[in-house]
Amino acid sequence: MTPNPKLLHFTVNQKAYTLPEIPNEKLSDLLRVRLGLTGTKVGCGEGRCGICTVLVDGIPTRSCLTRSAKIDGSNILTIEGLRALRPTDFPPAHIAGVENLGLLHPLQQAFVTHGAVQCGFCTPGQIMRAYALLQENPDPTFDEIREALDDVVCRCGGYNSIVNAVKAAADALREHKAVSDAVIPLINSDYAHIGKVTARPDAVAKVNGTSTFTDDLHFEGMLFARVVRARVPSAILTALDIRAAVDLPGVVAVMTAEDLPAARHHGLYVHDWPILVGVGERVRYMGDALAVIAAETQAIADQAVELVKAEFEALPIITGPVEGLKPDAPQLHKHGNLLKHIKVRRGDVEKGFAESAVVLEHVFHTPTTDHYFMEPECSICVPREDGGFDLFDATQIPYADRQQVAAALGLIEEQVRIRGQRAGGGFGGKEDIAGQIHAALLAQKTGRPVKLLFTRRESLLVHPKRHATQIRVKLGADQNGMLLAAETELYGDTGAYASLGDKVMTRAATHSTGPYAVANVKVDCYAVYTNNPPAGAFRGFGVTQSAFVVESAMDMLAEKLGIDPLEIRLRNALKVGDLTNTGQLLDSSAGLPDCLKGISSRMRELGITDPFTPVEELIGDKPMKTCWGLAAAYKNTGLGGGADDASAAEVRLLKNCRLQIKTAASEIGQGMVTTLAIIAAEVLKLPMTQINVFVMDTDLTPNAGPTTASRQTYVTGNAVRLASEQLKNNLLEVGASIFGVEPSSLTLAEDGLTDGWQTLDWQRLWQLLPEAERAALVHYHAPATRPIEEGGKIHVSYSFAAQAVKIAVDEAAGKVKVLQVLTANDAGKVINPLGFQGQVEGGVVMGIGQALIEDFKVVDGIIESDRAARYPIPRMQDSPEIESIIVEAETKEGPFGAKGIGEITSIPTIPAIANALYFATGVRYDRLPIRLKEKKELEAQS
Ligand code: FES
Repeated sequence: MTPNPKLLHFTVNQKAYTLPEIPNEKLSDLLRVRLGLTGTKVGCGEGRCGICTVLVDGIPTRSCLTRSAKIDGSNILTIEGLRALRPTDFPPAHIAGVENLGLLHPLQQAFVTHGAVQCGFCTPGQIMRAYALLQENPDPTFDEIREALDDVVCRCGGYNSIVNAVKAAADALREHKAVSDAVIPLINSDYAHIGKVTARPDAVAKVNGTSTFTDDLHFEGMLFARVVRARVPSAILTALDIRAAVDLPGVVAVMTAEDLPAARHHGLYVHDWPILVGVGERVRYMGDALAVIAAETQAIADQAVELVKAEFEALPIITGPVEGLKPDAPQLHKHGNLLKHIKVRRGDVEKGFAESAVVLEHVFHTPTTDHYFMEPECSICVPREDGGFDLFDATQIPYADRQQVAAALGLIEEQVRIRGQRAGGGFGGKEDIAGQIHAALLAQKTGRPVKLLFTRRESLLVHPKRHATQIRVKLGADQNGMLLAAETELYGDTGAYASLGDKVMTRAATHSTGPYAVANVKVDCYAVYTNNPPAGAFRGFGVTQSAFVVESAMDMLAEKLGIDPLEIRLRNALKVGDLTNTGQLLDSSAGLPDCLKGISSRMRELGITDPFTPVEELIGDKPMKTCWGLAAAYKNTGLGGGADDASAAEVRLLKNCRLQIKTAASEIGQGMVTTLAIIAAEVLKLPMTQINVFVMDTDLTPNAGPTTASRQTYVTGNAVRLASEQLKNNLLEVGASIFGVEPSSLTLAEDGLTDGWQTLDWQRLWQLLPEAERAALVHYHAPATRPIEEGGKIHVSYSFAAQAVKIAVDEAAGKVKVLQVLTANDAGKVINPLGFQGQVEGGVVMGIGQALIEDFKVVDGIIESDRAARYPIPRMQDSPEIESIIVEAETKEGPFGAKGIGEITSIPTIPAIANALYFATGVRYDRLPIRLKEKKELEAQS
């Protein structure tokens, strides 16, 4: 007879519970699954990221590591309980875009008003850790906050905003005063909403624990899935025995390639990625899927995976792109190992080098890196009675998911509805299919809802990464440092499958000669298949790698010529009227000279007169060598290259006088929903609190294309702007007929439409408008561009940036710390300074990670970085002081002159650090991530 389970007695958020103990249950599961308190999120399940932090008897505790048996007799506080602890009569903070902030705890208010919330997945953990700190220390210094919150990772990287929010909350709580406003660079703006500090409409739910992500959803009768992975990099699958898994009680379905009902491959452009590898077929990387299992519980699905036996015949391994192009290399795909050869040609590069006073040439390497979005991939597929399927997932391209899932199920696209969920970060890593097709196949087979949640290990193993590259650069310049010729040769490791490798390496290639005017250019770029993880989109989209190379080379050139690094960039910087390396005329909006001048003048204001000469400084209590480095960058906005860069949006005036915006553009934490609401508010003069933005549903929202290439502000922003203008015209027409005047003599305002004397309020306007005129749908197409092969205008616009980075070096310990960053960004008109600041901070922190910390290790096809512990990313104490300089070189076609900010912010950080290190140590680091000690050791050896 099974003994009665022990009972656990505890309180959560001051409510008492008595529940039976479940052996080995984690506290996070008790809270999330048994109590339905899904405000606590799980990022890694290994106790590394800290975002699952709750307070147990006041102590910050990682709920993913703590067994629930241990909490017997304890009092637990989760994010859902914090609001009730707000001091009574506390004066509320204010910020545009949010009402009733006063209902939140001051810490939660401060996170909203200081822009400390981006994707929001880490936010509950950050706030709980901060609450524990303030209980212990009501007046923490900035350093004490950084130290305490170093336990909780934020991949969106808004660490400085988080620290400022905690400090502001601490001050407010001590002094019983309203939380102070965020201190960020403001801009002059004549608009009512554009350029004004505005809170994210989704921030309140993210700070109070009610915000749901895909894994927080539950459906009646839901099964839990797991995928059997190859875990060998290159082989033929010779046998697959699933009998033991099928026989395991609780397993409902096991599917192999033999069971696939329709398409056998998926892919965004090239359909070369097997949905399941069949017996006799080729395994091309460790993450290849062999079988999928659905079971009554996650534990049974986990157990069943281990019971599947696979046999392989090992094949040679292609470890890198250069090896992949060797004549005797095994061919991974029918069309060979070369996915794409990209060329850029302009002028006569040989002549340019011949005429140069100085020529330099160098080879650089960059590693594979992982997005490490805090929310692991999760897909839930729910069968419908009409034979269709609802697919819930966090995706960057809802309509591409629909197309690929429908093809795999053998259905027409309209039978699949993607109900996109907010994403806990994406950074490009949620563009490809992850578990969507597998969950859908199992739902189709079983007729029951199926959830497939990746573990962190599976997330690291499976999804496409940033391309590792080898890049040779050759620059020639005259005595004055004017570039006369630039030649680059790039090899990109696109891994086992195409993903977006062709597009990514095209951007790497076209940006590889830097944001400079140079008349003679030759670029050859090869995207090559290997047995490494597939590589695809990742913030920076190839430009991250080539900018590191060309910006390092610019400093090398400057040194040879004895020219200041800032001066050589100013002399060559692209400006309005110049031609890019593809011959594109920059007819407007090229703010690089102003970015460089902005950095220069800020340095002068700070009294920094000789930034590139290292000095000894006391950092903490340690003498260290400090020095500055500089880099510049540019990054395209939009798809370009001849693609039809389209987006659609609908705006509709509702009966309750609210405006609803509908578009399938994805909110991945970047703040796109806020941006669209601001644009509509500006055109229609409605208060932000009267605007809803509904996104990412393929049945209910029009296609906005992918969230990639920093494009959504531009394309979907324009779709919303134009739709709002159509609706505005409808309102003016109807008002004109009532007032008996010309539409042009009427004005829209927050309270309605006025002729200066009388006003039709929004309720009346809604009544007057015919049903068909209450809504406007716009399909916007960005201006035409040309394929790269044809040259000329290949992109609609470019963002520009310059960064100066101050580092401290401890050569003996092999340590580098980034102390301070001055970052000037031209992304056109700034729509929301608060969101802009978040992108700036997050981009810089991500750049620091790429420069100094992150290295996704794959050795002979074996993925070694398959644990959170084996892939460190920047933490709170890695975040430097960041000062943002805003340059608004407005573009003609962008909404209100906006371009894109999402990617440009992180690109110059990496070369600026490498350049600073050269000045500090005399060593040119040509391989990322920079390992100070190893490099010096290598030099000693050579
Ligand atoms: Fe911290 Fe996104 S806001 S991970």
